[in-house]
Amino acid sequence: MICLLGYMGSGKSLIANLLSEKLKIEKIDLDWAISQKVGLTIPEIFEKKGEIYFRKVEKEILEDLLNAQNDIILSLGGGTPCYYNNMESIKEKSKSIYLRANVKTLVERLSKEKDQRPLVARIGEDDLPNFIGQHLFERNQFYNRAEVIIDVDNLSPDEIVEKILEKL
Ligand code: S3P
Repeated sequence: MICLLGYMGSGKSLIANLLSEKLKIEKIDLDWAISQKVGLTIPEIFEKKGEIYFRKVEKEILEDLLNAQNDIILSLGGGTPCYYNNMESIKEKSKSIYLRANVKTLVERLSKEKDQRPLVARIGEDDLPNFIGQHLFERNQFYNRAEVIIDVDNLSPDEIVEKILEKL
């Protein structure tokens, strides 16, 4: 079991897809699984049920997937490692890989596609660098506990996959 973690926009879903093709192992996107279970999109869950509800369902499905015996590549949500004892479970039950992107990279990527992400959707373009800088600083204490850390800023998706394969 491999868990890919990192901030929104760090490339978790894309890299999970590529790794899944290379290793011929099924990939699951945790946000997708949450959305299926609840029957709403992620923005709808935040809007209608609130973040606390989202974090509870996220934890439940994470534990179910980590406890299932089948080998999968699990692409986590950006906040997954930072709530409850999730990071402990992730470390205990999977090979954890942090796709570490710097603030500049994240701002560039998220400014283009922030609408689908409830935590940044309402942050103005000018405030995005400060918001992400602060948020990443808070979350890095969780992310940095991953078993493998890959600095992704100057790497192509294929190069990132190669680096991960070297560390498996
Ligand atoms: C979140 C990240 C999102 C999604 C939700 C909350 C976060 O996933 O789980 O909007 O707390 O960073 P992505 O990292 O796939 O965008």
